[in-house]
Order: sequence, then C-alpha cells, then structure tokens
Amino acid sequence: MCDERSEVETLREIYYLTHGAMADTSWRKLLALGDSLEQQLKRKLLWVWPTAPDLDYFNQLLSMHGIRNVLSVGCGTGLLEWLITAAGGKKASMFGLEVDRNWWQSKYSVRSFIPLNYAENSTQLDADFLNSCCENAPPCALLFCYFNNRRAFLDYLDVFGGRWIILIGPQPALGIHTDPNPVQPQLPGNQWTLRERLNWTDRNVVAFYEKISLD
Ligand SMILES: C[S@@+](CC[C@H](N)C(=O)[O-])C[C@H]1O[C@@H](n2cnc3c(N)ncnc32)[C@H](O)[C@@H]1O
Repeated sequence: MCDERSEVETLREIYYLTHGAMADTSWRKLLALGDSLEQQLKRKLLWVWPTAPDLDYFNQLLSMHGIRNVLSVGCGTGLLEWLITAAGGKKASMFGLEVDRNWWQSKYSVRSFIPLNYAENSTQLDADFLNSCCENAPPCALLFCYFNNRRAFLDYLDVFGGRWIILIGPQPALGIHTDPNPVQPQLPGNQWTLRERLNWTDRNVVAFYEKISLD
C-alpha cells in the first residue's frame, strides 16, 4: 500500500493516465495503481476494480450481443466505465447518469471520467430524456453497478426503450446490499431473461439480462 502517497497526488496521476492520447494504453497502469490504493480511496473511485481478463471478457460479451452504447445509471466517477471503454479499444461508448449535479460539479468531487448527464428526479424521468443520454444513439443497455435504489431502478426500467440491462454487484450473502442484486434482481414482469453471468474479482457478479418481448 502506498500510505505516504497523498490522495491529491494519486488523483493527479489518475487524471493524467485517463487523459487524451495516453488513455489508449494506460488502462493497465491504472489497474496496477488501483491495486496499490487503500480501500477508502479505491471505493471512492469505484466499487469494483476488475482485472484485465474481467474487462476483456466483458467487452467480448458487449461485442457478441451488439451492445455499442451503454448508459450507466448511478455511475459515480465513471472510472469503471472508462476502464471498460479503454480496454475494449473504444468499440463501445459509455455514458453516465447521476443525481446531485451540484456535488458532481463541485470542487470537492472526483472528476467524471465519462460524459455525464443528470437526472434531477427519477420519478419525473421521461423516455425521451433517458433515451437521449447517449448523444448520437439511444442506449442499447442500461448498466447499474452497485446501485441501491429499488424505486428509481424500476422508474428507469419503465421508460427504457432498449433490450439489455447489465447488473454488477456483490454475490448474495456477502453482507453487502444492493438493489437490484445481479443474482436476484426481481425484475418486473417475465420479459427479462438472464443471458450471461460472470464472476468478477472480489466476489462480484456481472449479469446480462435481455428483454425477450418488446411491447
Ligand atoms: C454505491 S454508488 C456506486 C457508484 C458507481 N456505480 C460505482 O460502482 O463505483 C451508487 C450511486 O448511485 C447514485 N444514485 C442514487 N440514486 C440515483 C438515481 N435515482 N439516479 C441516478 N443515480 C443514482 C448515487 O449518487 C451513487 O453515485
């Protein structure tokens, strides 16, 4: 652990690694840097730090299912999404959606690593807004990583026009609660079917669900 390295220095290094042309090759360095961080800062940056093989397999699945635009709801800093895109050679584009614009635009928060949109209130979401968050095309998939707001999750699903949702979270019975949980998401109706399930490092699960009949 790099105890004496200050948080400010670490963040500066991460901004450097993720910036511009450097970014294409530096995602592996960023993973290595992540290994050296203390848990508190690691979690502040992202909840699940995948390995290079995790990222590779995830990108293979995106490509296999033709998923090109992903909107990550509750993306936080978006560093996981940045890693996925960089490791996958930018074949998939990742966009983020967060609440609390004031926080994310304040000088106290970590900078966002992906283009970020803001939902002021999930109960007033409209389909046009959600489906326009990916700039050039509607999202093929919604991603929820360590999301923990059932009501909002259902509101997002209600207006989402695409076919895929990707859930990342802890294995059940680990003592960490997310809602939805990727293994037992209690998806509404019976249209969603589990297509892929991966185990990521540190006892995390990634699950791809596809909507089998579009109303
Ligand atoms: C535990 S954090 C996970 C952050 C990130 N996905 C990660 O894995 O590091 C949950 C995030 O969900 C966001 N969130 C909570 N309710 C939300 C809502 N209704 N719409 C969008 N984001 C929401 C929070 O602001 C927070 O950043």
